[in-house]
Amino acid sequence: MSDIKKVNDQISIESVGDVALVCINFPPVNAAGIGVREGLSKAIETLNAEGRVKAIAIYAAGRTFVAGADITEFDKPLMQPSLPETLNTIEASRIPVICVLHGTALGGGLELALAAHGRIALEGTRIGLPEVFLGLLPGAGGTQRLPRLTGMAFALDVALSGRQVYAKEALDQGAIDRIASGDPRDVALSAAQEVVAGTLATRRTCDLDSELDQAAIDGTRAMLKKKQAHLVSPHLIVDAVEQSAGDFDAGLKFESDSFMACLDTPQRAGLIHAFFGERAVSNIAEAKGAPRDIAKIGVIGGGTMGSGIATSCLIAGYTVRLIEVAQEGLDRGMATITKNLEGAVRRSKMSAEARDAALGRLHPALGLDALADVDLVIEAVFEQMEVKKDIFGKLDTICKKGAILASNTSYLDINEIADCTARPGDVIGLHFFSPAHVMRLLEIVQGAKTDADVLATGFALAKKLKKVGVLAQVCDGFIGNRILAHYSKMASYLVLDGASPQEVDTALEEFGFAMGPHKVGDLAGLDIGWMTRKRKAGTRDPRERYAGDLADRICEQGWFGRKTGKGYYLYDDGAAVPPVPNEAVAGFIDAIRAEKGITPKTFSNQEIVDRYMTAMIVEATRVVADGTAKRPVDIDMVFLFGYGFPRFRGGPLHYADTIGAAELVSRIETYAKDDEDYWQVPDLLRKMAADGTSFADLNKEG
Ligand code: CAA
Repeated sequence: MSDIKKVNDQISIESVGDVALVCINFPPVNAAGIGVREGLSKAIETLNAEGRVKAIAIYAAGRTFVAGADITEFDKPLMQPSLPETLNTIEASRIPVICVLHGTALGGGLELALAAHGRIALEGTRIGLPEVFLGLLPGAGGTQRLPRLTGMAFALDVALSGRQVYAKEALDQGAIDRIASGDPRDVALSAAQEVVAGTLATRRTCDLDSELDQAAIDGTRAMLKKKQAHLVSPHLIVDAVEQSAGDFDAGLKFESDSFMACLDTPQRAGLIHAFFGERAVSNIAEAKGAPRDIAKIGVIGGGTMGSGIATSCLIAGYTVRLIEVAQEGLDRGMATITKNLEGAVRRSKMSAEARDAALGRLHPALGLDALADVDLVIEAVFEQMEVKKDIFGKLDTICKKGAILASNTSYLDINEIADCTARPGDVIGLHFFSPAHVMRLLEIVQGAKTDADVLATGFALAKKLKKVGVLAQVCDGFIGNRILAHYSKMASYLVLDGASPQEVDTALEEFGFAMGPHKVGDLAGLDIGWMTRKRKAGTRDPRERYAGDLADRICEQGWFGRKTGKGYYLYDDGAAVPPVPNEAVAGFIDAIRAEKGITPKTFSNQEIVDRYMTAMIVEATRVVADGTAKRPVDIDMVFLFGYGFPRFRGGPLHYADTIGAAELVSRIETYAKDDEDYWQVPDLLRKMAADGTSFADLNKEG
């Protein structure tokens, strides 16, 4: 006989004979919000006060065990009981408590399990401490309890990598006690009964010792100093894990103080904005319609981009037809895809069997006629409108009815391309970022006539490819490249006006970019920008200050960056680490300054960052104002997932809010004294400054 009593909306107690099953039910991910904490504390206290049962098992309903603390509460005042308080109540329970895990037990969810007196995971369960991705550290005993169960080296690895650990590894490391199969409630019942029967041992984690692993601590500190010096929480995680070797309560106190310190940092706010932003970009009506069915995808073009797109589609399980005009190009494309897939196997992104299956789904063909039966075509040939129009005109007659015709163009007008077909509703822009099988951004470009289900298919495809799809409207460069075109000029102006390319790169790397703009230019190939400048020479606004003098001069030497061994830097074997500045470039800069009568100024690192970031924010504001991007958060995600923007800064417009609209307007007006054509205050920013509003407010308006 069992009877079920609700403690509150999220927690219930089922009594079965001499055991109690406590069920957490707070969809979608059973986050440990205030209701869950209150309910759990009350359930354990009540069962202990009543003394009716001899064992308690906690499990969760729905798709997963607890996915952590409720992240939406972090910006609100703390509501008691806190998670550490609830977990201490569980650990102190006189009646033994077992946790049964399924799905993902992450962050506070894993910490809940660690505070119980035993842990069973269903097959396929993953555990982890992803707080580091949110600028936090495990704040509910994770840094103290996990090392007591597994040793410090594993605890450091899990808490610093944020990775999800499968049940088998968790068992081998001692983080859990057993793997079981079945339904969470049934496993919870039999586990509790085993505790009563004495066949499942229980113990309090806080009673165990954590042995100091000085080598792991020192090695981790040295690694962090080198790789993550600018982040706050990873360093505090190491300190807290080190503390676990001492008194348990003192360790908990240290962890709690460190957690509160992290909560107050802008890094935490930036990373949590990134967490919700990644989900918000597809939380729009355009993404929610019924998508068309896609099984076979045609990719036109076997260059780097087309091969990357094909690789991404193959990894996601699609059948791919790769199209080229000549056998040589086709062979090159096939070789690149094979190499990409090998790389995925090497990096453990896919198994060797999955690679073989993917290659079996790849069908090369010469000419467009092979695309008659595909559900989606992604064209990735070079950026020439006439070539694209010709291809789309032919696709219109070749492809079956209902097939989606997509262009990977990075700036051309999708409407002009669509209008050379008799089915503009089927045409869309799907703008991938190179390397397309690695970079997670996908700009989904809506043409004036794109059908709603075609747009929804773009978002469904992004999800299947594990990419972040962001809606963009048609304009030159869409969201990302349009903003890039504007602020990359600032990097050039800073160099012409006094900074060296290395000073600009260093300042921006210290800000958090993995590479400064000149290193990125060398890596991408300086010839790409050179060709674009030549192409646009006739359409340039004569009032605008030309930004390409230096890059042009470098390219005129045949120096295109890494691939030629020379660019802003010199490369040994094409990839010197760290690269050495190219001294000849300094000579070019002097010559250009002399020709233009520029007296060089000195820029501090902060001034470099301020000018560069303000330029980025100016164009980003215009992109929001004219509707190219739906909301500021869409721009933020474009930059985090496509342009290496430092995640802990949340994105350009989240960062803009940390400065404030009024200060930005004042900066622009100051800069405009030197160059009033480049520096103009966007109307929207001026209005925001006057109203005292922020980009976060615009996000809320939707
Ligand atoms: N708190 C609040 N909401 C959460 C949440 C959390 N911890 N985790 C997920 N959600 C929300 C998501 O925002 C999403 O909401 P919308 O549907 O409104 O967009 C919804 O739950 C579903 O999430 P996903 O779309 O991400 O679902 P998924 O199935 O793809 O992934 C998941 C599930 C693996 C649990 C993933 O959501 C995830 O990684 N969550 C975050 C886990 C985490 O970081 N936990 C640590 C929290 S901090 C902490 O615990 C501090 C501490 O020490 C006390």
